[in-house]
Amino acid sequence: VLDIRKLYAQADVFTYDPGFTSTASCDSTITYIDGDKGELWYRGYPIEQLADQSHYLEVCYLLLYGELPNKDQLADFETRITRHTMVHEQMHYFFRGFRRDSHPMATMVGVVGAMSAFYHDSIDINDPVQREIASIRLIAKVPTIAAMAYKYSLGQPFVYPRNELDYASNFLHMCFSVPAEPYHVDPALSRAMDRIFTLHADHEQNASTSTVRLAGSSGANPFACIAAGIACLWGPAHGGANQACLEMLREIGSVERIPEFIARAKDKNDPFRLMGFGHRVYKNFDPRAKVMKESADEVLDLLGVHNNPTLQVAKELERIALEDEYFVSKKLYPNVDFYSGIILEAMGFPTSMFTPIFALSRTVGWISQWKEMIADPQNKIGRPRQLYVGSPRRDYKPLDAR
Ligand code: ACO
Repeated sequence: VLDIRKLYAQADVFTYDPGFTSTASCDSTITYIDGDKGELWYRGYPIEQLADQSHYLEVCYLLLYGELPNKDQLADFETRITRHTMVHEQMHYFFRGFRRDSHPMATMVGVVGAMSAFYHDSIDINDPVQREIASIRLIAKVPTIAAMAYKYSLGQPFVYPRNELDYASNFLHMCFSVPAEPYHVDPALSRAMDRIFTLHADHEQNASTSTVRLAGSSGANPFACIAAGIACLWGPAHGGANQACLEMLREIGSVERIPEFIARAKDKNDPFRLMGFGHRVYKNFDPRAKVMKESADEVLDLLGVHNNPTLQVAKELERIALEDEYFVSKKLYPNVDFYSGIILEAMGFPTSMFTPIFALSRTVGWISQWKEMIADPQNKIGRPRQLYVGSPRRDYKPLDAR
């Protein structure tokens, strides 16, 4: 083993960086993060300004095309998206192949992957027009698929999109309307939903985006690549943390029990971690968590939810952790997932829908990054090396000699 390591070390350039802690896998013009200052920009615009003054479809345009749209460009883009929100009618049957109690993320991985079968007229990655159509289809249809996965899990009929509604309102409508009782979308709630979408829209080379790029680097079609991204996002160390975080806050239950959970998070013999805490890049604070915290207060006020125990536990947990030597020394701060679940729960979503909502919001980031990579003439297949630490060469032994 030592000899093999020596051999690798002698190679011209060979870096060993498990988890890519300090290795850039690509260059990109889309998103910038300064982890020490707690800054996040999409195409140079700070996330706080976009969350406050812009809206999701405008942000989608910005991420996809590099500039903020003018009025005509935005109107045209919105029309293109709303014309593609319906999914192929045959996909209804595809859903029915899943168990009713499947996690909506499991259903989404399958159905989004199957889009390449239903929309095979936009899978030629060498044709820029097809790449564009695939991008629009994904941004438009993934919310419909997420809402259908939810409806399916409830045993309720699918709700068709209403294209006169804005993107966030339409999603709320598809999730919460039932045939006899169309859901009245409160504009303030729709605004909060839209802000959640914006805050999740892109985040440079996180695990799921890197997965999309790696899958795409082989020439795989965009629907297959996004399905790979959804699968990766599902893990509790990544997008699955929003579900895990709310479940943790519920389990803590009351502020009196917080010290017990803080102690568990610090105990190296206990696999428990404070969900919604810590980040590979942010070592100061996650700017998305700040906006999310304000939004949580606003939404609960709006819904007339006062003294929400989960929010109380979350705020107190944050306060205690940020004064604790363990969390301070390791620079562990709340991340985007810490407060998002509280807002989504107040809106009426079950925890199983939290990660699908993250996935639909991130679809634009994934597809923007995929397009950037495909259009780059320098693009080559992603093929990490490894450090082999297995057995030295040995000769095969026949079965009866082992
Ligand atoms: N609770 C307790 N301790 C923690 C936590 C936590 N949430 N996060 C990190 N630590 C500790 C680790 O045990 C480690 O301690 P050590 O140095 O004594 O071994 C140290 O802090 C560094 O942690 P790593 O896991 O090495 O950091 P990494 O950058 O690999 O992981 C991650 C980042 C996965 C986000 C981690 O902080 C974590 O598991 N957090 C909880 C899950 C979560 O909220 N994920 C969402 C991330 S944001 C997103 O994907 C949208």
